[in-house]
Amino acid sequence: MENQVTQRRPHVVLVPAPLQGHLSPMLELGTLLHSKGFSIIIAHAIFNSPDPSNHPEFTFLPIPDNLSAGNAAPANLLTLITTMNSNCEAPLREILAQLMNKNEQHDQICCIVYDMIMYCSGAVAEQLQLPCMILRTSSASAAVAYESLPRLYAEGYIPLQDSKLQDVVPWLPPLRFKDLATADMGNIEDILEISAITNNTRNAIALIWNTVDHLEHTALAQIQEIYPLKFFPVGPIHKMAPPTSTSLLEADINCMAWLDKQAPHSVIYVSIGSIAIMEETELAEIAWGLANSNQPFLWVVRPGSVSGSEWIELLPEGFKEAVGERGCIVKWTPQRKVLAHVAVGGFWSHCGWNSTLESISEGVPMICRPCFADQNISARYLSELWKVGLHMDGQLDRVKIATTIKRLMVDEEGKEIRQNAKSMKEKTNLSVSKGGSSYSSLNELAELIL
Ligand code: UDX
Repeated sequence: MENQVTQRRPHVVLVPAPLQGHLSPMLELGTLLHSKGFSIIIAHAIFNSPDPSNHPEFTFLPIPDNLSAGNAAPANLLTLITTMNSNCEAPLREILAQLMNKNEQHDQICCIVYDMIMYCSGAVAEQLQLPCMILRTSSASAAVAYESLPRLYAEGYIPLQDSKLQDVVPWLPPLRFKDLATADMGNIEDILEISAITNNTRNAIALIWNTVDHLEHTALAQIQEIYPLKFFPVGPIHKMAPPTSTSLLEADINCMAWLDKQAPHSVIYVSIGSIAIMEETELAEIAWGLANSNQPFLWVVRPGSVSGSEWIELLPEGFKEAVGERGCIVKWTPQRKVLAHVAVGGFWSHCGWNSTLESISEGVPMICRPCFADQNISARYLSELWKVGLHMDGQLDRVKIATTIKRLMVDEEGKEIRQNAKSMKEKTNLSVSKGGSSYSSLNELAELIL
């Protein structure tokens, strides 16, 4: 009986991109739609495949993709996007066509929801005459900024000139020209080409945003003028959905026991997300900066994230002895639990959009140290507009690090930032509660899909 009911649910196919920051919100959107009565099919690349055992309620369809870990380095992201789309289009079409032939009329797919960077799904939806929607896993502010790239290029601002880097872009305050830096992503012609493809909404009927209206009301309104589609800001998606494991790496849960031993709001949590990397010299400056801050710290050093090393073998001599039990270094954490822990009083982040939303949701003030792409934009918004963080710009050095940690977490100067972070948390909680903007938006989305 249960099976029959499950099979009679309208089927939604979700196509996530195989990167941590993209996969999590898509799987969580699946959980939300499942709770609204849909049957969920995850059509996913084999590379960075999600773990089906964490989602027994979904059906998983692997797409052969010919990708490997080397494809996902920051410098290769543009190539990864084009390669995965050209490799996945035909198999995805074949898998979905087979499913459509096999299923009875009442079991048919009613909609495809794909990650913006899995644009081949839009072509497949067109060919199979299926309605589709696009999930945007980064901010509306970043979307507005990147929509401006062709204009910046046409008006000669790109390549960026050193003399202008600190100037605010007249039509994009508070962003400066340097916040739109693209050099680390590839050459500008390639970036413009890929951004035109990924921004092409083709036949999509709606854009689903992992964002929250109170945070990005203006940016959402601006981007709505560019895309005359239905918009559904349903974020932070992880706060809307019940907790599930969507992590590609195994978290070291011992750090939670270490956190239990620390004083409330005393710990600085440090993570640069799932893709960014650092140089050995930066590792040493971070290490001594944390040591000199005198705050307890929980530091994620992802294996392979330091050039030329496996894990933490390049930590400077004497560092471990200097910090002792005050520091906890792990390969990966259960980040959302960490940010929700009462001991955590600050988050030094690369400002990936998920980390940004996760920190805001828990009221944790941030040290913003972006590494590339949209992270620069979020860092600027966090520090200048939302005022819940300090932007740690320029060359990394141990003195600056220790001072910034103190400014954020201890000094009078950081009091307002800490207070702002708390009120952001409250506003965000309201948005995901019954009657809140994201809550209502999700209901409208479910109705539209039906
Ligand atoms: C990438 C891009 O870098 C980012 O700019 C874009 O917005 C999304 O994709 P990523 O490096 O994956 O982001 O960062 P982020 O978006 O913050 O996502 C990282 C995810 O990994 C978060 O959900 C975070 O909770 C999780 N994480 C990180 C852990 O679970 N444990 C960790 O130790 C570190």
